[in-house]
Amino acid sequence: MASKKKPQDTCVLVTGGAGFIGSHTVVELLQNGYEAVIVDDLSNASKVVLERIRTIVGDDAYANLSFYEADVNDRAALERIFSEHDVDRVIHFAGFKAVGESVTKPIEYYSNNLGNTLTLVDVMRAHGCKSIIFSSSSTVYGDPDSLPLTEESPKKSATNPYGWTKWMIEQILTDLHTADPEWNVVLLRYFNPIGAHPSGLMGEDPKGIPNNLVPYVAQTAVGKRDYVHVYGDDYPTPTERASATTSTSATSPPAMSPRSGG
Ligand SMILES: NC(=O)c1ccc[n+]([C@@H]2O[C@H](COP(=O)([O-])OP(=O)(O)OC[C@H]3O[C@@H](n4cnc5c(N)ncnc54)[C@H](O)[C@@H]3O)[C@@H](O)[C@H]2O)c1
Repeated sequence: MASKKKPQDTCVLVTGGAGFIGSHTVVELLQNGYEAVIVDDLSNASKVVLERIRTIVGDDAYANLSFYEADVNDRAALERIFSEHDVDRVIHFAGFKAVGESVTKPIEYYSNNLGNTLTLVDVMRAHGCKSIIFSSSSTVYGDPDSLPLTEESPKKSATNPYGWTKWMIEQILTDLHTADPEWNVVLLRYFNPIGAHPSGLMGEDPKGIPNNLVPYVAQTAVGKRDYVHVYGDDYPTPTERASATTSTSATSPPAMSPRSGG
């Protein structure tokens, strides 16, 4: 069981902490007095976020942040981090997250998402750290029998490789807890979070073509992209009322589906 240390005595490792949700989490941790350590390979983030975090939290709190550019699946790098920091808890965000891409690149998704989690928990165990919050996803509910979903809703078969990685990681962490109840495991199954930090300094800024709707719409609004492509042609909105920069054609290359991300 994780000890009940005060925030100022608690070190939280945030995997994927330079990403959208991770960076906001790091801000909250630092503003609440925690020591935070980010490990991120910058596959979908930029180091610029560190300066933004510093501006938001101030120099004193920022002094409690360490950053490692590394793949969570790199055991040697992870070992080094755990030997340099007395990590009490881990919040695990690192992973690939695009539903559509996962269908075309299943090996990359299983390898990254499952591989880095297995390496992470193994190194955690070796260092006596048994507290993990896992950033799972609502995709583990699959095609639900009824809506709205609640925390009592059953997991169903996932509908794509990304969803299966979340499904399987949940099972791995559940089995870990069964084998050793000292593990403290929290599974967060959220839907698509959107928005930006109230300062306007941090938001969702993915590399390449966004796989989530809001950054795609935002990039279209500022002229980086020409259109927001819409799946399907059976919506009640009359085509002639669509704006000049919105395509409702089913033949347009879809930029995203309602299921993208998440
Ligand atoms: N954004 C959503 O809609 C949503 C919804 C539900 C769950 N999630 C999950 O939450 C987590 C964070 O999502 P996000 O929107 O902040 O995504 P994000 O891509 O902005 O953040 C993920 C971060 O992990 C890093 N990363 C990926 N693989 C890595 C690896 N092997 N080692 C080190 N770093 C690695 C990326 O560089 C990126 O900074 C993901 O696991 C995602 O599946 C996201």
